Amino acid sequence: MQHDKVLILDFGSQYTQLIARRVRELNIYSEIHPFNKIPKNIQEYKAVILSGSPFSVRGEEALHPDLSEIKGKKPLLGVCYGAQYLAHFSGGNVAPSNTREYGRANLSFIKADEAFFANISEDSQVWMSHSDTIQELPTHGVLLASTSDVKNAAYKIEGETTYAIQFHPEVYHTKDGSLLLENFLVHIAQVTPDWTPDSFVEETVADLKAQLGNDKVVLGLSGGVDSTVAAVLLHKAIGKNLYCIFVNNGLLRKNEFESVLTQYEGMGLNVKGVDASARFLDALAGESDPEKKRKAIGRAFIEVFDNEAHHIEDVKWLAQGTIYPDVIESISATGGPSATIKSHHNVGGLPDFMKLKVVEPLKTIFKDEVRRVGASLGIDAELLGRHPFPGPGLAIRILGDVTPEKVRILQEVDAIFINGLKAWNLYDKVWQAGAMLLPVNSVGVMGDERTYEKCVALRAVESTDGMTADWVNLPYAFLQKTSNDIINKVKGVNRVVYDISSKPPATIEWE
Ligand code: XMP
Repeated sequence: MQHDKVLILDFGSQYTQLIARRVRELNIYSEIHPFNKIPKNIQEYKAVILSGSPFSVRGEEALHPDLSEIKGKKPLLGVCYGAQYLAHFSGGNVAPSNTREYGRANLSFIKADEAFFANISEDSQVWMSHSDTIQELPTHGVLLASTSDVKNAAYKIEGETTYAIQFHPEVYHTKDGSLLLENFLVHIAQVTPDWTPDSFVEETVADLKAQLGNDKVVLGLSGGVDSTVAAVLLHKAIGKNLYCIFVNNGLLRKNEFESVLTQYEGMGLNVKGVDASARFLDALAGESDPEKKRKAIGRAFIEVFDNEAHHIEDVKWLAQGTIYPDVIESISATGGPSATIKSHHNVGGLPDFMKLKVVEPLKTIFKDEVRRVGASLGIDAELLGRHPFPGPGLAIRILGDVTPEKVRILQEVDAIFINGLKAWNLYDKVWQAGAMLLPVNSVGVMGDERTYEKCVALRAVESTDGMTADWVNLPYAFLQKTSNDIINKVKGVNRVVYDISSKPPATIEWE
């Protein structure tokens, strides 16, 4: 079954992905493409949205795609820069604004548009974030709404299904933003909202069956949400022809390997648990440099995985849990690729020499959608709600060199912290939490004895995608109890600190 698709042209706004998610929350499938790469099969998209941008339409480096195949031919919505672009190039005028146009504002309707503003109340709060303003509407432009500071806040073009809004419907602060997108897409563009997690599962399973036939597929499970959902989808499609490998790198959480392996087996997956702890710890021995530690783990993983995969006779495919944000080709405001802050190692790191074809069943969906698809597949809610955990595991939370003793200490500390969060009903309020073992000994006193032992840092952050994060204001009583538990129960630790740094400028992991 074919669903209606919406195209979002990305002009580099920090909110472009949010537009795609809002549209998908309406059960409408949307795709993001760079502004200058309009898909050749444009006729297959039922409507187009132009995103915002950090650029100015008047600037020298302005982004000027040719919209002749779109404008006037299919429903089109310009958001912020998109609205300015539609004005600037069709006989309107865009100029720097005199007043600050950032933050909350309220709409007043100038001309009724029953379809576009259906169920939206006069005075509805919207969110502005721009420094240029549309001074004159384009040819055939009809003003629909203003705010106190922005005269041309919403307009349409007579004779076309082209609409434009200066504010951002995708951000939470625009109260009726989703409704407005729904009005445009469903009422004006006549898009059918029938793309749901259930339909995604049904169609993906059918596609996988057709694509893979009787071929064997190997997949590396990590214990995380993405690889698990990918595995269950594939299992539904090809059953025992899916061979899962779950590697214990010795750097997982306490008892994680055993408990997750049992869970996977309980789900009917054909999974082999490989305990390669010693090999990873050997590869890390004596190494303190964070990047070299990551690279050593990446190499060891590929060796172990490749070795296991070679035991599967005639395997043709490698499955990966890649998700949509990893494949979106977004345009960056700085023009260039962003600098490598840390070289991420994921289970998906493809060893070229394996020469397998790649299958990525989740590559069109966002993380929150992966969770919904997982729920529709009947995967345990606890597994789906797990905090993200980095591929290199505790190695990047043990600052300096990694030894089995340090891993043991950190596993104990981490377990107390995580179990505590669960017991206090805080786990689901936190996006990610963990503990860091610092390369610092400090003096303490226990009973009458002087101690000279390790210090650990606890970190708990809120975030939506890990790109930015803020530390969580955990209750003092919880921190107090956790600190006591850790110092009393974990031999070798006599001091606990709490990390109160946001990202940026800090990162979530310490290495
Ligand atoms: P940072 O430390 O870069 O982390 O702020 C952002 C998010 O990414 C996770 N992370 C990783 N995940 N392989 C992964 O699969 C890695 O090498 C890796 N390094 C960091 C981190 O846990 C956080 O969620």
